[in-house]
Amino acid sequence: MKLWGGRFQKDTDLLVNELNASISFDQRLYREDITGSMAHAAMLADCGIISKEDAAAITSGLEDILADIEAGKAAFTADNEDIHMNVEALLTARIGDAGKRLHTARSRNDQVALDFRMYVREQIPVIVGQLLELETVLCRQAKKHQTAVMPGYTHLQRAQPISFAQHLMAYAAMFRRDVTRLEDCGARLDECPLGSGALAGTTYPIDRWETAKALGFAAPMGNSLDGVSDRDYALELLSGLSILMMHLSRFAEEVILWCSWEFKFIELDDAYATGSSIMPQKKNPDVAELVRGKTGRVYGDLMSLLTVMKGLPLAYNKDMQEDKEPVFDAVDTVEMCLPVFAAMLDTMTVRTDNMRKAAGHGFINATDCADYLTKKGMPFRDAYTVTGHLVAQCTARGKTLEELTLEELKAVSELFEADVYDALNLENCMALRSSYGGPAVAETARQIGEIEQFIQKIKENR
Ligand code: ARG
Repeated sequence: MKLWGGRFQKDTDLLVNELNASISFDQRLYREDITGSMAHAAMLADCGIISKEDAAAITSGLEDILADIEAGKAAFTADNEDIHMNVEALLTARIGDAGKRLHTARSRNDQVALDFRMYVREQIPVIVGQLLELETVLCRQAKKHQTAVMPGYTHLQRAQPISFAQHLMAYAAMFRRDVTRLEDCGARLDECPLGSGALAGTTYPIDRWETAKALGFAAPMGNSLDGVSDRDYALELLSGLSILMMHLSRFAEEVILWCSWEFKFIELDDAYATGSSIMPQKKNPDVAELVRGKTGRVYGDLMSLLTVMKGLPLAYNKDMQEDKEPVFDAVDTVEMCLPVFAAMLDTMTVRTDNMRKAAGHGFINATDCADYLTKKGMPFRDAYTVTGHLVAQCTARGKTLEELTLEELKAVSELFEADVYDALNLENCMALRSSYGGPAVAETARQIGEIEQFIQKIKENR
């Protein structure tokens, strides 16, 4: 008979059982469930709601069950629906009546809200840790390539000179915000739903501060309906993970481009590339492609839970059992992608020679040419037009700006002097972009230093 079978005269239809049961996936929450039950039992005893002996029996029974689950010895059944009822049934089978007292002043609604919140809370430092590893790799690679000139792009057209270090540190800045987004989510979820009951609290003299504190939360949630109803913390995690995957997918796309023969800015280590079953020459960036592809899954997970939650009346609805799989899937996906991506970047070979070659074509010093004239007194808009004419002339003649003779330059403006060639030199163009946040070495060094400090600070606060 079902744990809740009291008011029923018939067995549940087998297909309903199958639809209803969540044990196949929510068994992942066994540890959170047992931890929550232990805190609940201790509180019940402290408040005189159950005896100290019963609480002690519950605690040691749960400890044994935990050990058995971890040893793969506990048998869950779909008949017991979910992890909460499975654990309770195992407990009662072992310790008898005391086990039946555990659920006093509690509902599966506040129980699952607690377990799931704890799960989300635990995953944040794991993912943050992986992000910090990625940041460390980015700093390491950036330090090695602070003077490596590469073309910066807009519209995927060569635009202005940057360094490879600055390009990498742009991603480091994005991942830093991803870290803080996850930490914000962690700070906001720091309230305990246990004690909300089914929805309306309880008539027992429970102490919600005791369980909140025992479970490491700052306070109990202030409204019992809210406590069992909202999944915003899971949505915040999924949003944060979606944004993180969006960043990762852009980076992945660039890795894919950079590996192509058209770019050849980097070469992946053999351990982080794959071959083709038919084309013997192929070395494919599958890691980056899969990261790009899996971004779609994580977005899907976010959309899935947003859609499940949309329009649900308060308080608990069984729809909400659909909250777990998308979150598990997104967490698994991100936790699989991040370390591989970091290792792929850590082991890649950077072809600074090809970056420099690419930088030499495409007129990425055209802005510098206009700036040169502007600094000599020509209004910028006129300098822009003059440079545009020069670019058109060069394009027609298959030349670069710096290949024009001083006479040819003077033909369009008398302001050109011999020092223009310094102004057009790509290394100078990059080095002189020393405005705050720019690619000049001192600036990228500052950016690297700040990320390193950030990594350090988060690690210290753990
Ligand atoms: N397995 C359920 C879930 O994940 C637990 C809560 C069930 N509550 C209920 N009132 N049926 O949501």
